[in-house]
Amino acid sequence: MFSKEDNEAMTRTSPGTKAGKLLRQYWQPVALLADLPPNGAPLPLKVMDEDLVLFKDETGRLGLLGLNCPHRGADLSYGRVEGGGLRCIYHGWVFDVTGQCLEQPAEPRGRTYCQHVKHLSYPVTTGGGMVFAYMGEGEPPVLPQLECLTAADDHLAMWKFRERCNYLQGLEGDIDPFHLNYLHRAMKSKDARDAPGSSDQYYDFYTRGTPRLEVDRTRYGLRIFTMRELDERAYLRVTNFMMPNVAIVAGPTGEDGYTLLWHVPVTDEVHIKYMLNYKRSGPIDQTGLKKAYDMHVIPGTNLEPRRHKENRWLQDREEMKTSWYAGLGPSFSVHDNWVTESMGPIYDRTKERLGYSDMAVVAARRQILAGIADMDAGKEPVGRHHDEESAKLKELVVRSYLVEDRNDYKKDFVAQTEAAE
Ligand code: FES
Ligand SMILES: [Fe+2]
Repeated sequence: MFSKEDNEAMTRTSPGTKAGKLLRQYWQPVALLADLPPNGAPLPLKVMDEDLVLFKDETGRLGLLGLNCPHRGADLSYGRVEGGGLRCIYHGWVFDVTGQCLEQPAEPRGRTYCQHVKHLSYPVTTGGGMVFAYMGEGEPPVLPQLECLTAADDHLAMWKFRERCNYLQGLEGDIDPFHLNYLHRAMKSKDARDAPGSSDQYYDFYTRGTPRLEVDRTRYGLRIFTMRELDERAYLRVTNFMMPNVAIVAGPTGEDGYTLLWHVPVTDEVHIKYMLNYKRSGPIDQTGLKKAYDMHVIPGTNLEPRRHKENRWLQDREEMKTSWYAGLGPSFSVHDNWVTESMGPIYDRTKERLGYSDMAVVAARRQILAGIADMDAGKEPVGRHHDEESAKLKELVVRSYLVEDRNDYKKDFVAQTEAAE
């Protein structure tokens, strides 16, 4: 169903590649604000195979520059923050946040050479405790003004995970509704509700029954309906794919907020998953969520996971009998990490046998490929917004609730959504 060419187009993201060009047409998170404490060191980064350095100048402005000094290539992340920008410690050239060279101390006085040196730099902005960069051509779009990117700090918790696989595998897992029934299943539902970072009252529902799926195209990407019919009740989840590499789903805050998952390539075989938990009604439980995060990533390390390929993700066959179906412990992010990495660094999609339950994954791939075709034709791909009002995406809603009308659940969804506005 998807050719080798399609797979290459969707998964390769270095400069000049098809997906690389598409992803660069949108703001992408490149760090957490917490990664750059006051007076902290400049941060070396690799994003879509580009080596960069993120720094805060003496006035607090953020700059994202090419990692290697344009003079003779020294690594600028070892530089000093001074002189109105970042100073290379090899020969002292200084670059401001726009990449403009401000000083060349070794050049004879009176020369204007430095005015003609402009280093690679990308625009940056912030939202939801994250730093975003625009690495594409032309004017950047408006950053989506989602509730979670504009909410007060204490309503949010943000995390980073390093996944040793292509970004698309991570994304596909997040918009694959049926895997909840197996991969994340607890043998006793109490275990699921008691797991750190979890409080989903509908846990029992999404591990049972064969869901009915429906996928609608929207101006931001896809809205995905998953209906599970159980005894006299029926349970609906509404999740979203936001072009070209974001999923927005129900998370530990249940109906009172949501979770955003943004998969950003480091290289084609490694990506960073940015996860933002949002609670609408008040401060979020930072302590519980940190406990869940620490089950996955070892504190004090550079995103090193406790469970990984080399230790077979510590799968426990006893646990599989009594508590967690997959034997991978209670952390959902560990389960997701295992499955996406287990496919290999870049999954060969010519080998798969797709079924009904893959409807959303297929639709997202088609939308990414359409975005690439649109760009080739000089057209605007879906999901770029140019004014703040339309970038609010008010119609992007996440739901997880019992519906009254199982047959006409869309009508029910619209009524519920309008009632909430
Ligand atoms: S290499 Fe950076 S100033 Fe010479
Ligand atoms: Fe999952």
